[in-house]
Amino acid sequence: MGNLRAVLFAAGVTLLAACGGGGGGLTSPPAQPAPVPPSTPQLPDPASAPPLKTMLDAYFPVGAAIEPASTTNADASLLVKHMSSLTAENVMKPETIGTAEGVYNFAPADTLLAFAQTNHMKVRGHTFVWHQTAPAWFFAGDQADAVTYRAAVRNRLRAYIHAVFAHFATNYPGTVHAWDVVNEAASDVRNAANPYRTTSPWYVAYEVGGRANGYRGEDYIADAFTFANEARTNAGLTSTDVKLMLNDYNTEVPGKRANVMQIVQSLLAAGVPIDGVGHQMHVQRSVNLTEVKAAFEAVENLSGGSSLVNHVTELDVSIYDDPGSCFEAKTGCQADYGANPPQSVLSQQATVYRELFNAFKRPSVTSVTLWGIADNHTWLNSFPVARTNRPLLFDTAGLPKWAFWTVVDPSISVP
Ligand code: GLA
Repeated sequence: MGNLRAVLFAAGVTLLAACGGGGGGLTSPPAQPAPVPPSTPQLPDPASAPPLKTMLDAYFPVGAAIEPASTTNADASLLVKHMSSLTAENVMKPETIGTAEGVYNFAPADTLLAFAQTNHMKVRGHTFVWHQTAPAWFFAGDQADAVTYRAAVRNRLRAYIHAVFAHFATNYPGTVHAWDVVNEAASDVRNAANPYRTTSPWYVAYEVGGRANGYRGEDYIADAFTFANEARTNAGLTSTDVKLMLNDYNTEVPGKRANVMQIVQSLLAAGVPIDGVGHQMHVQRSVNLTEVKAAFEAVENLSGGSSLVNHVTELDVSIYDDPGSCFEAKTGCQADYGANPPQSVLSQQATVYRELFNAFKRPSVTSVTLWGIADNHTWLNSFPVARTNRPLLFDTAGLPKWAFWTVVDPSISVP
């Protein structure tokens, strides 16, 4: 019996049941050990975390978008250890640099560039032209005289791009390896007749004088690329040194993707110097991986676009899984998880991160940037609604999450 008891204990079988239920010779059952649960994976020791940039070095530089403050606060050591590239979350946008016509505020960006240079990191320039951060001085003037007005707007665009490109190329040689020349030029709604964001102040300004008279709103895009290419040439650089990119969101959504591809295709057909497409990749934990791959393939398959590259420019994975109405009308958004989201959600996020990085490992993808370094700072705490989000690879204390470990360790199991 002694041996039988040991075997049954080990098997997690209760002795009472094995003895037929209490009518036997034992007066009190021995204490029962709890069944042994399958072991739950534990987060590895943070001290054993390998540098993310080293693990991805064979594929692409990996970066984070930051504010200058991150170069001196607790984020700095994380950035230096893990990232080989940086993006300015805001301070290289016209709203910061373009104080007034001919007046440039480079100081905040210089902090970031100097940090990158000291630490041998690349920088993605973001961005010359964006409908959301276009200072009004670009569009000043008398619209009644369409010819003069359009020429003035165009000259301001050229002067701005030339000055900003030259500043960074001259002062930080070899650091800026790409510029998002135009950000978010495509319409969200598929429209083959006009795939452009027609409400952009750039589009509107360029179309003063009337489309019927040849003033096409979308021409600001070709102009911006042409001016960036002029500036690149003036700096003695080529597309090998600095990529000129069209950046947009939702390229993993077929209708939006079709608009973006139509725009890029028409730029290529017109001989406009464009080097690639930036895919923002602000995705949710339910993201369709097939559509992510389709976004890269669409660029690879453009006619005359065999030399185009794909950059992932603003990656984050929301822990929520909201319907479209949440983004449009702010209705139907998932309830706030609060400060401690369920492990199941973080595990799903980690699995998605692993699959995303596996999808990124293809020759056409030559840069991947996360939109933040750690969960202590993310725009998704206020967009699409105010709510706690945890979309990045490092937690609010800067420690590696399951999402980090799934990216660097293909064999790791999540709880
Ligand atoms: C867009 C822009 C970024 C940033 C994010 C949200 O994706 O391209 O510069 O502003 O929105 O913060």
